[in-house]
Amino acid sequence: MKKILSVVGARPNFMKAAPLLREIETNSNLDSILVHTGQHYDEKMSDVFFEDLNIKKPDFMLKAGSGSHSYQTAKIMEKFEDVCKKVSPDLVIVFGDINSTMACSIVAKKLHIKLAHIEAGLRSNDRKMPEEINRLVTDAIADYFFVTENSARENLRKEGHEMSKIHLVGNLMIDSLHYGLNKLIDVEGKKEDFGLITLHRPSNVDNISNLKDIIDDLSAISNQIKLYFSIHPRTKKQIIENDIKIGENIKVLDTLSYLEFLNLMKHSKVVFTDSGGIQEESTVLKIPCYTLRYNTERPITLSQGTNRLVEPEKNKIIASFNKNKFEINTNYELPFGWDGKSAKRILKVINEEEL
Ligand code: UD1
Repeated sequence: MKKILSVVGARPNFMKAAPLLREIETNSNLDSILVHTGQHYDEKMSDVFFEDLNIKKPDFMLKAGSGSHSYQTAKIMEKFEDVCKKVSPDLVIVFGDINSTMACSIVAKKLHIKLAHIEAGLRSNDRKMPEEINRLVTDAIADYFFVTENSARENLRKEGHEMSKIHLVGNLMIDSLHYGLNKLIDVEGKKEDFGLITLHRPSNVDNISNLKDIIDDLSAISNQIKLYFSIHPRTKKQIIENDIKIGENIKVLDTLSYLEFLNLMKHSKVVFTDSGGIQEESTVLKIPCYTLRYNTERPITLSQGTNRLVEPEKNKIIASFNKNKFEINTNYELPFGWDGKSAKRILKVINEEEL
């Protein structure tokens, strides 16, 4: 029986791991072990996602918690090494681009354990973004690359990886989107039009003047359409500590569960975000998405999706909104494999590989 150890750590990992874990469990020849590093530890950042997505209880909770990047990474590495030595997995699977992804990849490879990276190959080409470093390091040492879009395959090819180890399998995030949409109960009746905001990137929220500029523009936009702001803990802290004023037509909501968020997004007329996953989800839901960043590692959402990059600067966000409003190109084909069946494709590859 092959031991497959999957690692999750922070919110965006949970949506990617859930469908794959379910799929692994249907294979009687595979033993599924789940490790939660505890990078996100609040009930609202972690536990509710396990419930909404029906994820099994982790076999190991590392409780690494918050801290500087190096502190957090080191803590995860120390604790994950013990787990790997105890379990001796045949394969470690890491997801996305968070600190836990990189930390556990290094540990696995130093112990000569095979490593699969889900959502490999995405590149923003911005090395000031912590996630870009995590992606580069993880991909430099991984054995199997599961990619969500062609640009990722091309990036990995250019970096010298063997094409036979790169698998375009679609997008697990969209598997979860389908799963979640099926669980939503629609309430009938016409609701007031509204939009949705999420913001958490250090480049947007750690610098107070940047954050103020973004909030000012969004407040101005909220005079045209009511906006719900699902607030991340680091953003909330900044807003409170610096007494940043938010427009009256922006309704701030504490961190939402997966299903609560999905329900809001499904009914929203527009999304303003700096998240990675929301660029992809809005593409599938065909909702206009204004991504408040200078770059995206997910370029397919620009060419085959509803995404628009907007420089997160004063007057530029409102100018872009006033020009484009709720317009989207509806004439696009969804990217290959963004169909809810990604987990099945990944499992097929795992079963075929000689681990
Ligand atoms: C992390 C990921 C980011 C991902 C995001 C989703 C990295 C480098 N970043 O960023 O890619 O998009 O998760 O949310 O891995 N905090 C809480 N409760 C928690 C966790 C964190 O209050 O459960 C607060 C703490 O004050 C902490 C801060 O949020 O210092 C930042 O948390 P951290 O995990 O370092 O990064 P995120 O900004 O969440």
